[in-house]
Amino acid sequence: MIPYSRQIISEDDVSAVVDVLRSDLLTQGPVVSKFESAVATYCGATHGIATVNATAALHTAMMLLDVGHNDSVWAPAISFVATANCARYCGATVEFVDVDVSTGLICVDDLERRLFDAKRLNALPKVLIVVHIAGQSANMKQISELCQEYDIKVVEDAAHAFSGEYRDGRIGCCEFSDIAVFSFHPVKPFTTGEGGMLMTNDSDMASRARKLIEHGIERNTSNHMTPTDSFWYYEQHELGYNYRLSDIHSALGLSQLKRVDHFLRERESLADYYITQLCDQSLYSLRRDPECRPSWHLFVVQCTSHVKRNALMNYLRQEGYGTNLHYLPIPFQPYYERLGARPNDFPNACRYAEISVSLPLFPGLKRRDIDKIISLCQRAIIM
Ligand SMILES: Cc1ncc(COP(=O)(O)O)c(C=O)c1O
Repeated sequence: MIPYSRQIISEDDVSAVVDVLRSDLLTQGPVVSKFESAVATYCGATHGIATVNATAALHTAMMLLDVGHNDSVWAPAISFVATANCARYCGATVEFVDVDVSTGLICVDDLERRLFDAKRLNALPKVLIVVHIAGQSANMKQISELCQEYDIKVVEDAAHAFSGEYRDGRIGCCEFSDIAVFSFHPVKPFTTGEGGMLMTNDSDMASRARKLIEHGIERNTSNHMTPTDSFWYYEQHELGYNYRLSDIHSALGLSQLKRVDHFLRERESLADYYITQLCDQSLYSLRRDPECRPSWHLFVVQCTSHVKRNALMNYLRQEGYGTNLHYLPIPFQPYYERLGARPNDFPNACRYAEISVSLPLFPGLKRRDIDKIISLCQRAIIM
């Protein structure tokens, strides 16, 4: 079965991990901070804090922004559940915003309307989480202007978007947000196995993040409440978690990062090839924003109906090609329905989930596979 996405591991990656395995420190050694600096430099952000996965980074982002029981966090209706769950971990209410059917990205018009109404009702969110679905940036400039107007913090869930660009910067540089979060899961633009990173340009937030991912322990002795010369002394200042990434994972990430631009160019060229082959009017790719260079984490096409989309997914599977739906609208999840979400309030998200499908896209995929996939798609939708 050819999957919709997969990791590409080289001998250099293997050696980098083996070097750590042969070293004294498997975790909390020197490689994590090298990896953090390399990612921050790549993105143009001041700080990167590596975490066990993006979910942990999102949870840390909520804690950094002091999200609590009386707060509301808004998120797009189309995303992986982790985008919303991070706010629930802090006890906040999650409300959803509809998306644009042709991109799957948060609909800025809907957001603007909702914010206007929420202000009148004194029900503005504390934080807006924006998701760069499939690796294409949301309209961050407009979103950040709106959020400044209403005094709302912005978190970019950039789990899909490492190596992507938006306007003059890399996604993750936090020019238009307080915090951005990446995932390094194997299907993502590059991998550490499991892993994630929280990016910010705020030094206070970065220091606190370092505490929060390590049980709330303050490592900086000058901030200790009890001054002491004892090297074994430590202080926990708040409730944190064990969300640290290991040196083993970071070594894989650091090695993979050297090839990330190559991965991007390959994904780009395969996506272009798909687009040139997609001449059938009943199958089309997502609308592109000219201000964005996507990471092409996913190659999503849309059909004219859910019947055709389902037939296409089943047929490709039968012929040995993996596809996936990214994603069912979060308000559809029984957990969120129980909390009061009403899926019918998000007609665009429902439509997006009915007609979209992610086709295989990863470095190393052959053009002849794309030819085969396109011809199978065409056969499936006329059957
Ligand atoms: C949009 C989005 N956010 C967050 C996550 C969580 O990432 P992780 O698996 O690294 O925790 C994912 C995972 O697929 C995702 O797609």
